Amino acid sequence: MPAIEVTTRDGAKTQLRGASGLSVMEMIRDAGIDELLALCGGCCSCATCHVFVDPAWSERVGGPGIDESDLLDSSSSRGPTSRLSCQITVGPELDGLQVTIAPED
Ligand code: FES
Repeated sequence: MPAIEVTTRDGAKTQLRGASGLSVMEMIRDAGIDELLALCGGCCSCATCHVFVDPAWSERVGGPGIDESDLLDSSSSRGPTSRLSCQITVGPELDGLQVTIAPED
């Protein structure tokens, strides 16, 4: 069961474990962290699940798809490692992944 580390907007770090195949958004939501609105439920249409991937992980996670990138363009806080967390599927290869929840737009 892979683990990820999430940094919330107050700087607190939380370790989460979830079944392989869950998205980062689902793991955060299932842990009850309510900073991530995830309004569309993971359909890649709202951009309220924006996170920054730790630079050490960004190559392994990969960049956003075209639709995801278009949505990220609507965020004033988009950065070089921005991703929509509903579009990152966690498996063993991402065990230990670190993400930070982006500021609210
Ligand atoms: S939950 Fe809506 S884009 Fe990710």
